[in-house]
Amino acid sequence: REPLKVAIAGLGTVGAGTVKLLQEQSDLIARRCGRPVTVTAVSARTAGRDRGFDMTGITWFDDAVEMADTADCDVVVELIGGADGVAKRTVQAAMARGRHVVTANKAMLAHHGTQLALEAEKAGVVLAYEAAVAGGIPIIKTLREGLAGNRITSLYGILNGTCNYILTTMRETGRDFADVLEEAQALGYAEADPSFDIDGVDAAHKLSILTSLAFGSPVDFGAVSVQGIRNVSALDIEYAELLGYRIKLLGIARETEFGVEQRVHPTMVPIASPIAHVEGVFNAVVTEGDFVGRTVLEGRGAGAGPTASAVVADVIDLACGRHGFTFGVPAAELKAHTVGALDKL
Ligand code: HSE
Repeated sequence: REPLKVAIAGLGTVGAGTVKLLQEQSDLIARRCGRPVTVTAVSARTAGRDRGFDMTGITWFDDAVEMADTADCDVVVELIGGADGVAKRTVQAAMARGRHVVTANKAMLAHHGTQLALEAEKAGVVLAYEAAVAGGIPIIKTLREGLAGNRITSLYGILNGTCNYILTTMRETGRDFADVLEEAQALGYAEADPSFDIDGVDAAHKLSILTSLAFGSPVDFGAVSVQGIRNVSALDIEYAELLGYRIKLLGIARETEFGVEQRVHPTMVPIASPIAHVEGVFNAVVTEGDFVGRTVLEGRGAGAGPTASAVVADVIDLACGRHGFTFGVPAAELKAHTVGALDKL
């Protein structure tokens, strides 16, 4: 069968990791899809740098939007990042040309997810985003496919690997916040602007996406109450421990009588609870469905390997012809169901 041709926009930690995974696992992927998956084009801001993969047969583009429009490809993988600007233009150019899009861009989906879902459906293409939430954990597929027969009543979890890494390391070593943040940056976990991690914005981006998918409402990032971990000290962590708790940055979305409430904040969780033991760069998401009951997923939430794994899962779906509605129901059917952020009243 014809190969699925993939163009990759953005060659940072995740972009380079994705090309490497596709090349190194090409035999396994071809067997699973019944056809090869080939990288035909890449684009990034800086050319010429050795990124640890083979450029043979891959066309280089300086401009991602031009690549999305003109490259020989079926799928554009957007790994540039940022809510607006070139990332969004690349996605829109790809969809307008009838190409499927795979993205890890939670900021873009948090701000423009509903609009982009409408555009994808109008263009008859797939907009897939497994890698946008909780890194390597297959939470998008789990909500959209595995739990599709359930009404979800609540979900919560650790959605930012950088914060969990910082909180874990502060607790284990008593080290300083800033020092540990630098380490998380060096490991490739943090956002380009790490204040998005530590101020809870990244977790809120992800929560707003999960809420839309779980509750069938338009993505409503503005309705998330957000508080980060900037003011959590080593002493807070120590006292929490003495009282029998661990401090975790949680994202929580739950049905209330007024609609779905969404919030992100540091939370004292009992040491006896499983989520207290999700440590380091790991994320976890707990969902409650009316027929299935509780489901818990745990895995690495950031970094090249886990995020590339999620990107490639979407690419493999496209190669196999598997796809669904972006947020689980047709975008035009999403119904406002979220309540405003308590901290913004
Ligand atoms: N900065 C993010 C995190 C990357 O630490 O979780 C994965 O989305």
